[in-house]
Amino acid sequence: MKTQVGIIGAGPAGLLLSHLLHLCNIESVVLENRSRRYIENRVRAGVLEQGSVDLLNRSGLGERMQQQGLQHHGIELRFDNQCHRIDFDELTDGKGITVYGQQELVKDLIAARFAAEGEILFEVEEVKICDIDRQRPRIEFRREGMAQELTCDYVIGCDGFHGISRPSLPAAILKTFERSYPFAWLGILVAAPPSSAELIYANSPRGFALHSMRSTTITRNYVQCEPDDRVEDWSDDRIWHELQLRLGSPDGWQLQEGKILEKSITPMRSFVCETMQYEKLFLAGDAAHIVPPTGAKGLNLAIADVDVLSTALARRYQHNDEKLLIKYSKICLRRVWRSEHFSWWMTSLLHKFPDHDDFQRRLQLSELNYICNSPAAAATLAENYVGFAQP
Ligand code: APR
Ligand code: PHB
Repeated sequence: MKTQVGIIGAGPAGLLLSHLLHLCNIESVVLENRSRRYIENRVRAGVLEQGSVDLLNRSGLGERMQQQGLQHHGIELRFDNQCHRIDFDELTDGKGITVYGQQELVKDLIAARFAAEGEILFEVEEVKICDIDRQRPRIEFRREGMAQELTCDYVIGCDGFHGISRPSLPAAILKTFERSYPFAWLGILVAAPPSSAELIYANSPRGFALHSMRSTTITRNYVQCEPDDRVEDWSDDRIWHELQLRLGSPDGWQLQEGKILEKSITPMRSFVCETMQYEKLFLAGDAAHIVPPTGAKGLNLAIADVDVLSTALARRYQHNDEKLLIKYSKICLRRVWRSEHFSWWMTSLLHKFPDHDDFQRRLQLSELNYICNSPAAAATLAENYVGFAQP
């Protein structure tokens, strides 16, 4: 088999890249090791920045997102018996976010690729990248038990943090940065209407909690847990008990409970691989960088990477101009590091750290009070949350 661009991974990065390339008449094939059913039902992030929404609309993917996505113009912070709204409209000149589940976007992307007769090969195995330093790199894989090969001009690794693309780069040139955090998030999807019009981020003495949503009938909540906790350690009663206490507010607000449809634990990690390109192999999305979910940036970074990459590949194919392609890592890393900082900062501000003493707790509360009382501090949070476009 032959194609122009071989893409490994059918998450938002790989699928959106394939769609954007198709709009520029560039052929691609996407190789995914899971089934279509699995990736369409995998519960993941759900916050889209304004810039991500604009790109999806511009590229013809906005229909269902416009109908079903929830537009939010602020978030609420809860701490120390206080509730405070960060008003995005006022602080960012009318920008906002759209709450739309990642798996819904994945469904839209798969439908768009198939409508355009795009090729996505699901359930492939033993994917291996070969000859990245040659004119025509190859991807070897097995499908339905048969060995196959895809020859391409470029290989794009969109296979997430645990994929094979990043380890295919020569170890000697890899430049990586990493932080892990001494806690994780237990997330639940609930059949209950949201208890608030906007997301609520709570810093409580018992640990962090987040109230989010997917639709007018489905809620998504998170509680900070131990990094080695297992889902079985958290009975439904224990989850609701912690959520009620951590999210509770002095005005008697109540979190609406309901049937828990899914439970999962997300580890918290910051990671950047600054080598986002080597010869004919490019990395995009979680394959190159991970943020802790507190800033809601992971999905948006994946979208931003493939926006840059599709434009660069279009210039290469349409005008034989490689200048933008050569600058791919440099351009993406500016945004990546801004999001890394913001996600680390939100995580540090809102979680209970095992080694924190009362001094550090007071510093957290002071900073939260500062954000609630200084428009400049609130604007810093707001402009990063809705997406800061680096000049
Ligand atoms: N071969 C083929 N496919 C693979 C391989 C492999 N060896 N390894 C992983 N994959 C697939 C995964 O099954 C997954 O479908 O690559 C895809 C990677 O998708 P994501 O993990 O969703 O990563 P990305 O597209 O970069 O999107 C980033 O996902 O984890 C969230 O918070 C993150 O919202 C962010 C988004
Ligand atoms: C989510 O709805 O899944 C969500 C929202 C905000 C975050 C992280 C996750 O910061």
